[in-house]
Amino acid sequence: MKDVVLLTGAGQIGMAIARRIGYGKKIVVGDKKIENAEAISKTMNDAGFDCEAIETDISSRDSILNLIGEGQKFGEIAYLINSAGVSPSQAPIEAILKVDLYGTAVLLEEVGKVIKSGGVGVTISSQSGHRMPQLGNEIDEQLATTPTEDLLKLEVLQPENIRDTLHAYQMAKRCNEKRVMYEAVKWGERGARLNSISPGIIVTPLAMDEFNGIRGDFYKNMFAKCPAHRPGTADEVANVAELLMSDKGAFITGADFLIDGGATAAYYYGELKPTK
Ligand SMILES: NC(=O)c1ccc[n+]([C@@H]2O[C@H](COP(=O)([O-])OP(=O)(O)OC[C@H]3O[C@@H](n4cnc5c(N)ncnc54)[C@H](O)[C@@H]3O)[C@@H](O)[C@H]2O)c1
Repeated sequence: MKDVVLLTGAGQIGMAIARRIGYGKKIVVGDKKIENAEAISKTMNDAGFDCEAIETDISSRDSILNLIGEGQKFGEIAYLINSAGVSPSQAPIEAILKVDLYGTAVLLEEVGKVIKSGGVGVTISSQSGHRMPQLGNEIDEQLATTPTEDLLKLEVLQPENIRDTLHAYQMAKRCNEKRVMYEAVKWGERGARLNSISPGIIVTPLAMDEFNGIRGDFYKNMFAKCPAHRPGTADEVANVAELLMSDKGAFITGADFLIDGGATAAYYYGELKPTK
């Protein structure tokens, strides 16, 4: 038996993180698009890793439980890397809330019930969650603690209160941060840790859809005016994840890490500040 890494979302960010921490472990790669899971498994298996692809939809509890069950056939679940998600240009409001908000919350809950003592998880949130006004203590607490099956019934998430897909995505990512804090307390009872990473624009297929979508000019402007003057890479996100998932991160849990080349700083206090 080996320690098991559950990797949900077979994208560039997930693979970059799995390559840092996954050697010598069984990596079970879950993705809604099985061809994505198989492609990343092949790339990594060809490089000496031990991956298995499983079709998984994180917006379904049954599918998450199936992934966990498949993983447990190889050993104890010791790591979770959640990089599954859909972006504002890829999906309608309902799908963004179902995958990015509800799906992430269920995944953290279910893995939290089985994670090995000493285990560690990281979920990919987004700078988008940092780009909207504070929601206040009451709504923060609702997003953090509402039972998962009631989350999408919250008033703040009803269609009349969600302006567009970007707003849905921002709400999902804000919820991810709050949910990580709530779940980190429970994971801690098992001797495990959980954190989130909020990347800025990272060059991946998901981001390419954004660059070429209706908000393309918004992104070009962001690169021109943010302190780093460029998008980031999946490997730079993996640098943070590697710290969080190693013993050097042993005192870090329930936290969110913004890695965005300073774009959010420029949004509040620099050239990216909205003019109205
Ligand atoms: N790329 C960026 O600029 C950026 C910035 C901030 C946050 N993020 C977040 O990072 C995460 C990973 O994004 P990426 O850029 O690596 O994208 P990607 O498109 O390379 O990978 C995302 C993967 O998630 C899978 N997926 C989508 N819905 C799913 C579902 N319901 N169940 C299981 N798998 C599903 C997709 O099939 C895809 O393989 C997402 O949560 C995204 O919101 C990305």
